[in-house]
Amino acid sequence: MKRIFSGMQPTSQLHLGNYLGALKNWVSLQDEPDSECLYCVMDLHAVTAEYDSARLSDATREIAAAYIAAGIDPNKSSVFVQSAIPEHSQLMWLLATMAQMGKLERMTQFKDKAGKNQERAGLGLFAYPVLMAADILIYKASHVPVGEDQKQHLELARDLAATFNTRYGVDFFPQPQPVITGPAPRVMSLRDGSQKMSKSADSDMTRINLTDDADLIAKKIKKAKTDADPLPETLGELKGRPEALNLITLYAALAEISKQEALTLFIGKQFGQFKPAFADLAVEKLSPITMRMNELMDDPAQIDVILAKGTEKARSIAAPILSDVQKIMGFHR
Ligand code: TYM
Repeated sequence: MKRIFSGMQPTSQLHLGNYLGALKNWVSLQDEPDSECLYCVMDLHAVTAEYDSARLSDATREIAAAYIAAGIDPNKSSVFVQSAIPEHSQLMWLLATMAQMGKLERMTQFKDKAGKNQERAGLGLFAYPVLMAADILIYKASHVPVGEDQKQHLELARDLAATFNTRYGVDFFPQPQPVITGPAPRVMSLRDGSQKMSKSADSDMTRINLTDDADLIAKKIKKAKTDADPLPETLGELKGRPEALNLITLYAALAEISKQEALTLFIGKQFGQFKPAFADLAVEKLSPITMRMNELMDDPAQIDVILAKGTEKARSIAAPILSDVQKIMGFHR
């Protein structure tokens, strides 16, 4: 039996990287035989950076709506909010006693987010990967579908699972497997092929959000950075052309064809011809998701019912696992 767990932060709108790196894969995993899927909105992680408390609750609902609009079926998967399951934070504290500061200091996301002023970074940002390990281990999840940028965090989760088992002489936590098989595990910025597409990048022109309308999508694609050469015959020839490779990868992922097949459609063409075709495809694939998201957001009570059902299911798994961990660690009960 596979138990699949993943989540996204309600920091702002989801973008094409979130969709093609992770969410699209979550949808396919729902139909794997013998598997149970848990998809969570990671609000406790979202508050490790500056955020708007007046918008957090709506932003949380919007992410749940995006999951469902993209194809997560609440009858097949449990959708819920991290902060509604206190066991995540409770396990985090216990794992924090086993997490080494040195390993946390080496986390590239911490270094990126803390910037030059690490001394002033919050403890929550530093301990972020420990909470992430707790999110996964509190369900004894076997598989974690994510984009490539989460690989290092998952290694820490595997490490903490093994440390716990060794320290207490048990075979309790399984090793969670990263599943980095989304159609585009590392989507790059539209403006710089060396930077990943990110919610936190200053310019909105660097990303396509799931809530962008057709005109905005077309405008962003038109302005996307490219080069002056025509599209070549083979993928190998895209080496050294990161922006071109990114756009072909995105086209292929949206069209559900291979990168080579996508390239073959445009051999010898300039970006002036490729871009409108890409914009049409992006609008065709994303607009049904946007429309469904808007419909769902018009009925917030319906989302809350789905979340309440997901919370009940998630707690029924997490509570006995936390209780077992407490027993193993010798707490008085
Ligand atoms: P978050 O909210 O930054 O991103 C959500 C998911 O989207 C993927 N992703 C990308 N994939 C491809 N290209 C990109 N440019 C891109 N940007 C983001 C991420 O890899 C992720 O899968 N720490 C996590 C949230 C989290 C979590 C967890 C995930 C908290 N606890 C436990 C899995 C299991 C995060 O910040 O995701």
